Amino acid sequence: MEGVKKLFFGGNWKAAVRPSQTTGFFAKFAAGLRGHVYDLEMAGARVVVAPPSACLSVARQALVNEGLEGVVGLAVQDPWIAEGAYTGATTFEMAQDPLVGAQYALIGHSETREPHRIYGSISVLDETRLTEISGLNGKNPRPFRIATDAVVNRMTRKALEVGMTPIVCVGETLEEREAGKTRQIIQYQMSGALAGFTPEQIGKMIIAYEPVWAIGTGKTASPEQAQEAHEQIARILMEHSHTAENVVPIIYGGSMKPDNVAELVHQRDIHGGLIGGASLKPEVFLELILNGVRAFS
Ligand code: PGA
Repeated sequence: MEGVKKLFFGGNWKAAVRPSQTTGFFAKFAAGLRGHVYDLEMAGARVVVAPPSACLSVARQALVNEGLEGVVGLAVQDPWIAEGAYTGATTFEMAQDPLVGAQYALIGHSETREPHRIYGSISVLDETRLTEISGLNGKNPRPFRIATDAVVNRMTRKALEVGMTPIVCVGETLEEREAGKTRQIIQYQMSGALAGFTPEQIGKMIIAYEPVWAIGTGKTASPEQAQEAHEQIARILMEHSHTAENVVPIIYGGSMKPDNVAELVHQRDIHGGLIGGASLKPEVFLELILNGVRAFS
């Protein structure tokens, strides 16, 4: 199984990098990566960076200048599903514009799902209320929104419609884990994300398991904890796509670092990572990727 596993490493820059820093990042990253392009290819490993939307076209240009356009992909963070009067939104169409050329879309990250940060007491399981707040029950979806499961589903559909690869994030909060609800939350978020898709469409997705309590906290899920969740996700994917083997990459996110990547990707159902903090420094991100790839060579 490990021999045929294709690895995927995504750097999620969130809102931590500026356009002028983007060029410098790729110059250093390219210098380190150039000697390892063959290793990545041999391992079938994909590398993608998700800069803030203001940095996307700068990132594209930097990749072209460094000759890495075909080696490193770009993802747009949390794009909106419609063009028009949505102040503040970045759309799928903008991200896909030839001057930008993002091929991936990061959807349903917990920082866009967490309603309690904004609305206090509303439960993530209160889909009706959340859908109401997100404006998805009306004709005009509002850009000021929470990525409810219904929104995540719509965004995923839009990504597939325009030919982008959706990277759909799921994961429980600490409160939910401690209340023994991890399996329930994963089941709920996965069924919401996958509702209405054909096996062929599901085959074009990437799923990121990101336990919220491990994001940016330095607390990584143990390989066993992560594997348990990934195995459940793999089972749900197989059920929805009526297959006996899962072909959808399931990546882990939450304080993944150069020194814990190998033990994580050694787990059967962990196919790489979605990396926040450790993707901001080119040398650290590269070390993480190479440690992940070496774990398989
Ligand atoms: P982290 O973030 O690696 O900084 O924990 C991961 C993420 O939020 O995608």
